[in-house]
Amino acid sequence: MSDAPAEHVPVLAEHVRALLSVAPGEVVLDATVGLAGHARMLCEDAGHHGQLIGIDVDADNLKAAADRLEGCPAAVRLFHANFARIDDVLNEAGIEGVDVLLADLGVSSRQLEDPTRGFSFAVSGPLDMRMDSTLTRTAADLVNGLREEELSDLIWDNSQERFSRKIARRICEARRGHRITTTGELSKVVCDALGMDPRSRASKIHPATRTFMALRMAVNNELTALRTLLDKAPSCLKLGGRIGVIAFHSIEDGMVKRDFAERKRDGQYRILTRRPVIADPQERAANPRSRSAKLRVAQRVR
Ligand SMILES: C[S@@+](CC[C@H](N)C(=O)[O-])C[C@H]1O[C@@H](n2cnc3c(N)ncnc32)[C@H](O)[C@@H]1O
Repeated sequence: MSDAPAEHVPVLAEHVRALLSVAPGEVVLDATVGLAGHARMLCEDAGHHGQLIGIDVDADNLKAAADRLEGCPAAVRLFHANFARIDDVLNEAGIEGVDVLLADLGVSSRQLEDPTRGFSFAVSGPLDMRMDSTLTRTAADLVNGLREEELSDLIWDNSQERFSRKIARRICEARRGHRITTTGELSKVVCDALGMDPRSRASKIHPATRTFMALRMAVNNELTALRTLLDKAPSCLKLGGRIGVIAFHSIEDGMVKRDFAERKRDGQYRILTRRPVIADPQERAANPRSRSAKLRVAQRVR
C-alpha cells in the first residue's frame, strides 16, 4: 500500500504541464521526484512510448514515488541521487538527452511534516534536517559546532534573515554547557533572540522560519547543488528540450533567473516565462506552500 498522502497536489501543476508541454513518446527527467505529483502528470502526457527518469536524494520519498508511479503509462526509472549528478544518472540510464527537465526545489510536505526528520518547528524532533540520510553532517552539528560569526554568516547567506547576528549570539549563549539537540529548543532560542512569541498574530510567519530554512539549505548544500544543476542542464537537454525550475526562495529564484538570462544572451536558451509564474488566489488559499513558489521555464535552442 502506498504511504504517500493520496491528496498530494503538486504546486503550479497546470502551468508546469502547459509550459513543459510533454508530447507523447518524450523523455522526462524529474530531478526532484518527491511524492511524484508532477511526475505522474508528466508521465500521462509522455504516454506508453515515453520515459520518466526520477531522481531524489531522499530514499523514503523515492519509495513513495515508486508506489505512486505504479501503473503510469510511461516507462519509469528512479534513482537515489543528488540532482547535481544528473549527468551521471543519465549515463547510467543510457540516455543522451532529455526533452524535459523539471526541478521543484526544497523539501516535500512529507519531509516537513515528519518531526523525526527535524525540519519542523511545529512539533519538536531531533535537529537533523538531512534530506539524504547518507549525509554525515546534521543541523545539530552546525548549530553546536560553528563559531558565532560562521553561524551568523550561514543564516544571512542562506536566508537573508536580518537578525542573523542576534540569533547567532543567542544560540551561542544557549549552547554553553549543553548541546542544542531538538527543533523545539532551537525554535525557542530563535524566538527569544527576536523577542517574539510564535503564537502572537503580530508575526505572519513563524519567527524561526528563516533560520530553519538557512540551516536546512546549508545541511543539504542546496545552493551548490542548484548551481551545478543549472550548469549541467544544457548538456542534458536535447535541442528543443525544456527546463522548468520551481523555486520557493528569492536567492534560488535569482540564480535561475540569471542563469536563463545569460544563456538567452549566448543564444543557448529561449525564455518561455517572461515573468516567473506564480500561484493564483485559489491555489494560494488551498495550498499555503504555493504562496512563495515561482516557476521559470526555458527552452534549449542551440
Ligand atoms: C518540493 S519536493 C518535490 C515534490 C514533487 N515535485 C511532487 O510533485 O511530489 C522536493 C523534493 O526534492 C528532493 N530534493 C531536494 N534537493 C534535491 C537534490 N539536490 N537532488 C535530488 N533531490 C532533491 C527532496 O528530497 C524532495 O523530495
